[in-house]
Formats: sequence, structure tokens, C-alpha cells
Amino acid sequence: MRVDQITIKSNLKDYTVNFEDNADFIKNLAQMPNSVFVIDENIWNIYKNTHLSSIPQEKVIVQPVCEDIKNIDTVCAIYEKIMQFAPRKNMTIISFGGGIIQDITGFVASSLYRGVNWIFVPTTLLAQVDSCIGAKTSLNFKHFKNLVGTFYAPKEVYIYPEFLKSLNVQDFYSGVGEMAKLHIMAGKEKAQEFIDALPKIDALDNATLSKMTHNCLNIKKSYIETDEFDTGKRNMLNYGHCFGHAIESATNFAIPHGQAVVLGMILANKVSMDRKILSKDKLKFLEDKILYPILKVSKPVLDENKIVQAMHQDKKNVGNNMALIMLDDNFETSKILDLQENEVKKVLAQLG
Ligand SMILES: NC(=O)c1ccc[n+]([C@@H]2O[C@H](COP(=O)([O-])OP(=O)(O)OC[C@H]3O[C@@H](n4cnc5c(N)ncnc54)[C@H](O)[C@@H]3O)[C@@H](O)[C@H]2O)c1
Ligand SMILES: [Zn+2]
Repeated sequence: MRVDQITIKSNLKDYTVNFEDNADFIKNLAQMPNSVFVIDENIWNIYKNTHLSSIPQEKVIVQPVCEDIKNIDTVCAIYEKIMQFAPRKNMTIISFGGGIIQDITGFVASSLYRGVNWIFVPTTLLAQVDSCIGAKTSLNFKHFKNLVGTFYAPKEVYIYPEFLKSLNVQDFYSGVGEMAKLHIMAGKEKAQEFIDALPKIDALDNATLSKMTHNCLNIKKSYIETDEFDTGKRNMLNYGHCFGHAIESATNFAIPHGQAVVLGMILANKVSMDRKILSKDKLKFLEDKILYPILKVSKPVLDENKIVQAMHQDKKNVGNNMALIMLDDNFETSKILDLQENEVKKVLAQLG
């Protein structure tokens, strides 16, 4: 049953996020005419005889998932398979999976017939709390992460927390990392709400996960509705991501995205303290109550030169400077464009 709904206003077209407390919505999706399903292979294997059993097997494209397949070749392979279903412009692509399935199927939906209907069912916590709204689709090109992409919104998103039960610890806490980021950015009260909820998040309590997901989507909504095409305010959502992306690329994506973002927030806070906009007390509060408790990867061995190089290559930089989103004592974010190599190396050396 649908328990709640959030509408996202978009310059492209408004879309809804539906919160579901049982799998009936999947039975309805299974009956949708002229539809094709693209489903993460792990999800299909785990749930084909239970939550997904109503979906006719002949309408399913099962897609193996890893970061290496998020490219144009996979998109072409999916076009090829969809053409075998005698598609029409009014078809609907329904996809189930995490951010990788979202990026690939969003790109396919945005480009096929210059845009077909798309419904997305996020199955990772990261996709539920963060990536499912915002209308970005991204593909990797050679070693350039998310270089190619479009802005394209799904028609509908369905959040079903029950899927999270089968996530492994690192992927689950990857989503918790993004959840923490959004709650910190929303100010002290929301940060405290996150701290209070953490024991129940750890216990995978559905009602708590649903409530925290609501918070996250409402917080993100406030950024994307005012700056959907990422030319100003939306940039702030990159808090934790300037270092985070560099850590992902320097470690060859061994660390899940949201966990790299946790490390990125720890590092960005240290720069913010060095630049005297974040006090030592607040930095310690964030580290002790939020960031270290949700860090579930062991500290990676980071080559400081590789990190600096990756930060120089960040596609959001302007000119030759390195950018960083910093946090102040009121948990407000700001962007600097003059981050120096010695500041990066200093905080990397301090990473506990
Ligand atoms: N488009 C955007 O706005 C946006 C935003 C953030 C991240 N991303 C992209 O998302 C990707 C990361 O996505 P992600 O963290 O959601 O993970 P993912 O899609 O990489 O999935 C992680 C792993 O979990 C498995 N999995 C998915 N759901 C599962 C479930 N319920 N139970 C068991 N296993 C499950 C997958 O098969 C995969 O092995 C990156 O490529 C990133 O660039 C996109
Ligand atoms: Zn992110």
C-alpha cells in the first residue's frame, strides 16, 4: 500500500516518489502494457520468486552490475534487447536496482526515441535516499567517471525499504553516508535527529529508514528544485564529494561511493577548521557522533599525489584551481576555489 508521496517539481516534468509498505505496487507495474523491465541481476536472483514473482520473465532484461559496465556499450546492448520487444515511442522502461542501474536505464530512457517513459524502483539505500531524485543520468567514458550524461527524470519512483534487507554492510552504510551528509547540511536539529535515529538505522528498522529517507529527499528537493541544472546552490550537495570522488578514483572504486563521501566529509571538515570557519568542538562532535560511527571501511592507503591529481581533474573545477565545499559552525556550506596542494596533503596526513 502507498503510505506517502513526495512530488518533485522539475523543469523537465514533475514526478512523484511513492513510499510503499508492501509489494503490491510491483503487481501493478507487472501489468503495465507495452513495458519492459531492466533488473539488476542480484535483485532478480534474490527476489524473482518472492517480491518480483508477478513480473513476466519474458519482459525482463537481467543486467549484471559493476562500475565497469556503466558505459555506452551496455547502453547499446540494452537498446538491442529492447528492440526485440517490438517497442514503440509510448513504451515504459521499468528498472529495479541501485545507482548503476539508474544511470544506465535513465540514459537509455532519455535517448531512445528521444525519450520514453521510465519508472525507477531504487533498491540500494544510496539510490533511495539520494540518487533517485535529481534527474541526472551518467555514464563513464574510458577512465573518466560520469563524463557523459543527460538530465532526464523518471515518471515515478517507488521506495520499498524491504529491499534493503539484502544489502551487504558496505553498500548499506554507503547509503547511510549520503543520509548523514544531507542531515548535516540541513542544520544542527536534523543532524541531531540523525544521531538519535542511528541505533534504529543500524537495526534496519523499516519505519525509521522510511522517515530518514523522507527527510533526505525533502532536503535534496530543496536544492534541486531551485537549481535543477546544477549551476549554483546544487553544487553544495558536493559536500564530502570533492575529496570523496578523488578517493574513489585513487583507490580504483574499491570503496563504495557513500563511504568515500564520509571520508571526504572528515577531510573537508579538517580544511574548514584550518581555515577557521569550523571550530574544533564542532569538528569533534561531527567525527565522534556521526562520521566515524558510520565509517565501515578500513582506512584506505591513499597516495597523496594521486589524490591531488584526481582533485585537479574534478569535472566541477574551474580553470586550474581545486574546489572544495566547506562547512561552518552553523553547518552551512560554502565553496572555495583556491584549495592548495599543501592543505590537501596536510589533512590527508591527519586522517585517523
Ligand atoms: N545519477 C545520480 O544522480 C547518481 C547519484 C549518486 C550516485 N550515482 C551513481 O550510482 C552508482 C552507485 O550506486 P549504488 O551505491 O546505489 O550501488 P550499485 O548500483 O553499484 O549497487 C551496489 C551493489 O549492490 C547490489 N544490489 C543492489 N540492490 C541490492 C539489494 N537490495 N540487495 C542486495 N544487493 C543489491 C548491486 O547488484 C551491486 O552489486 C555509482 O555509479 C554512482 O556514480 C548516480
Ligand atoms: Zn554522492
